[in-house]
Amino acid sequence: MDKERILKAGQIAKQVVDYAKTITKKDVPLLEISEKIEFKIIELGGRPAFPVNLSTNEIAAHYTPTIEDKTLASGLLKIDIGVHVDGWIADTAFSIDLENSKENKQLIQTAEQALENAIELIKQKSSETTLGEIGQIIQKTIELQKFSPITNLTGHGMEQYDLHAGISIPNIDTKQSQKIDSGLYAIEPFSTTGSGKVKDGKPSEIYLIKDTKTPRSQLAREILEYALQEYQTLPFCSRWIIRKFGAKAKIALKQLEENSNLHHFKQLAEVSGAKVAQAEHTLLIEGEKVIVTTN
Ligand code: CO
Repeated sequence: MDKERILKAGQIAKQVVDYAKTITKKDVPLLEISEKIEFKIIELGGRPAFPVNLSTNEIAAHYTPTIEDKTLASGLLKIDIGVHVDGWIADTAFSIDLENSKENKQLIQTAEQALENAIELIKQKSSETTLGEIGQIIQKTIELQKFSPITNLTGHGMEQYDLHAGISIPNIDTKQSQKIDSGLYAIEPFSTTGSGKVKDGKPSEIYLIKDTKTPRSQLAREILEYALQEYQTLPFCSRWIIRKFGAKAKIALKQLEENSNLHHFKQLAEVSGAKVAQAEHTLLIEGEKVIVTTN
């Protein structure tokens, strides 16, 4: 673990969150918000660890604007930001109510409280905290407000250039006695007014390289080589590739998907179409010591 870079990524992520809060207003195009956030990450000396996720209402995660996206910011918007410095990641998210809804605000506050309580618990028990205990406090906090946690979304361990490494951190009481141990983790509770599960939705145009076997077309080869170099094993999106290679890259991305070079993520939508709020921080645990890198 490269502590210096982990802390730097966290500090950049925190500044980017503060910045994102100033530019996110109702009816601003999501495309504009995403590009400004990603530009800010680079300006501050980091790189996006994944395309900014701007997921609205029942979409819990994995919505990033396409290059011709016309969607305007509205409703209950979740902004999930990843920053990396030489592959060392900070992953943080917040939610914002853009329709002056009391219920949205309560959902958001509940996700934030669940995150805060989980962090307090981990600070007390550090690497001795069990995964079951973390899930339990998140679930209890959310259910106390008569909402549901999303049971099939979890926090996750992180390693260099690996956004989901090692263990999952549950958002419900799984009774797991396994301890969290030292490492780098994202804790991310989701609260919903719905039944508490997400299912795959539309394609997100967010990709991850899964195989480097040579594709047939020249452009697909070039894009694969570029993505390998630029993003390595981190997610990227069609918007970034089309900015670099032009609109013709769309077909090449499809070919790369068909050739099994790319994993194509789906948007994740709450099964009952209910609203979802999210809060997320990154924690560095070193034995007794717990640092929230994104706060
Ligand atoms: Co995360």
